[in-house]
Amino acid sequence: MVLDAIRNRRNIREFTDDLVDNEILFQIIEAATWAPNHRNTEPWRFIVLAKNGDMRSKVAKIVHDWTYENVKSPNPERRTNSAREAEQEILDSPSFIYVYSVQGRDEEMTRENYSATSCAIQNLMLTAHSLGLSVGWSTGKPCLAPVDTAIGAEPDWDIVGALYIGYPKDIDSANRTAKRTPVNEITTWV
Ligand SMILES: Cc1cc2nc3c(=O)[nH]c(=O)nc-3n(C[C@H](O)[C@H](O)[C@H](O)COP(=O)(O)O)c2cc1C
Repeated sequence: MVLDAIRNRRNIREFTDDLVDNEILFQIIEAATWAPNHRNTEPWRFIVLAKNGDMRSKVAKIVHDWTYENVKSPNPERRTNSAREAEQEILDSPSFIYVYSVQGRDEEMTRENYSATSCAIQNLMLTAHSLGLSVGWSTGKPCLAPVDTAIGAEPDWDIVGALYIGYPKDIDSANRTAKRTPVNEITTWV
């Protein structure tokens, strides 16, 4: 049921060593494309970085170098460790996908496109969950590092996220601690 998937999906970045078949990735990306999108602009773009591929290594190195330069610690050992961890996480992730949103004709359309692409990611995550996978959506280091031209994104595309994807090590414990604010605290009934 959709509601079960919505409630039990968790943002996860710790995976088993099992690989994810390209057919499965195709399936979850196809599900993403059924997201609502105003004016049918279909603004989403996906870039899949193959496990053990040259592009994955290249991006991991870019993120490594960016992290070393930008991590907020004066301690060289900490910087080295943070950079290595960020690099290794990208290399280790069973699947790794960048998601971009194309610009619209004006600011309003660009904003609509970005919203639609976020819906597409939610579709992707729910479908992944229904297939036993988990996704870790990040707008952190892998998106802040200058990866765009290296992976073939157009200069005017907006980056919406980097998705770590794999079979979760322990989704149950993530679900035990997940919580949300009660509806009445975030809703005004007028
Ligand atoms: C736009 C967006 C950006 C996110 N970026 C990060 C991130 O950079 N690092 C991270 O650990 N989680 C990131 N997350 C995941 C959230 O932290 C996560 O969804 C939140 O903690 C709620 O947990 P849940 O998704 O398991 O319910 C992001 C989520 C969204 C929607």
